[in-house]
Amino acid sequence: HVLDIDPNAASKGTYEFYMLKEIDEQPSVMRKISQTYFDENDDVKVDPKIIDSISKADRIYIYAAGTSYHAGLVGKTMLEHYTGIPTEVGLASEAGYHFPMMSKNPFFIFLTQSGETADSRVVLKEVNKRNIPSLTITNVEGSTLSREADYTMLLEAGPEIAVASTKAYTAQIAVQAVLAKALGEALNKAEAKDWNLKHDLAIAAEGMQQLVDSKESLKEIADKYLIKSRNAFYIGRGIDYAVALEGALKLKEVSYIQTEGFAAAELKHGTISLIEKDTPVIALINDPATADLTRGNIQEVVSRGANVVTIAGKDFAREGDNVVLPTINYYMSALLTVVPAQLLAYYASKDKGLDVDKPRNLAKSVTVE
Ligand code: G6P
Repeated sequence: HVLDIDPNAASKGTYEFYMLKEIDEQPSVMRKISQTYFDENDDVKVDPKIIDSISKADRIYIYAAGTSYHAGLVGKTMLEHYTGIPTEVGLASEAGYHFPMMSKNPFFIFLTQSGETADSRVVLKEVNKRNIPSLTITNVEGSTLSREADYTMLLEAGPEIAVASTKAYTAQIAVQAVLAKALGEALNKAEAKDWNLKHDLAIAAEGMQQLVDSKESLKEIADKYLIKSRNAFYIGRGIDYAVALEGALKLKEVSYIQTEGFAAAELKHGTISLIEKDTPVIALINDPATADLTRGNIQEVVSRGANVVTIAGKDFAREGDNVVLPTINYYMSALLTVVPAQLLAYYASKDKGLDVDKPRNLAKSVTVE
């Protein structure tokens, strides 16, 4: 099997913007991660020193910024389910000077596309001062956070040029899945041993391909509901809540439409007062435990005049849903749910005539606190 990442990965080719190229590359990135982290017997392959070190931990602490923080929220859910180790996720910028309370045997994971984010480096310095073991999951080999942590796992996503992170987010989720699988197996967890992650990564790659192949439908939704709007909301529960936060960040950063992500049920505790006629609300529905409840939350905003866009997993879909996602393991669902959100952001920005790859006031890598 040949690696299918373009050797000339940092060139835009025929694409008008890197962001769309990078969204389209996600199926290849999933395949690359699968090739990197599984051996010829389809066994998961992670440096045994990493697994040995984390398996001694009684608590995992994930620290990150921006989109990487949102990937950490998904990683927490996977790590807890497949390894049984309680996992906290925090914003690096908040932890550097208010260090979290430590368990007896903590282990730190830094998620960082660039490996250079100053806010994350401050936390790692504190971690090293306390001799706590750490792993950096990054896209950049030899980056500062990679060098300063004990261990590194690479995202294998190829260079990400657009300021808005897309393929690094899905790569972070996939690599955390690899870690959860390897660690859970080492800890003898049935959930991890029975998990065919290699198969799930193939399902994710295929599903992503279907979604990017039908991108025109997202352009229509963006043009119809988003580009004339000053604000918008993403709602979801469970992993969909984590993706709602990422979908909202994507849309606001590139389109300048003020967008917030909410836990679907929290709207009624305050935010629903902002819903007016034609306010766009994008609802994510993949969580088996709460899909019906989210439908109820959708009714609440529809009755206040919202324009609701529904993005639902095939098993939870109803007639009239705007996007139906292929079926996938719930713990991996963010890999598919986020793709239409990325495309909505891309088209909203492009169709407003903005510079999709370089939104105002933002930098790809933030090396100041
Ligand atoms: C910047 C970028 C974001 C990114 C964040 C964290 O703000 O614009 O896209 O999510 O930094 O970056 P990192 O490289 O640490 O993942």
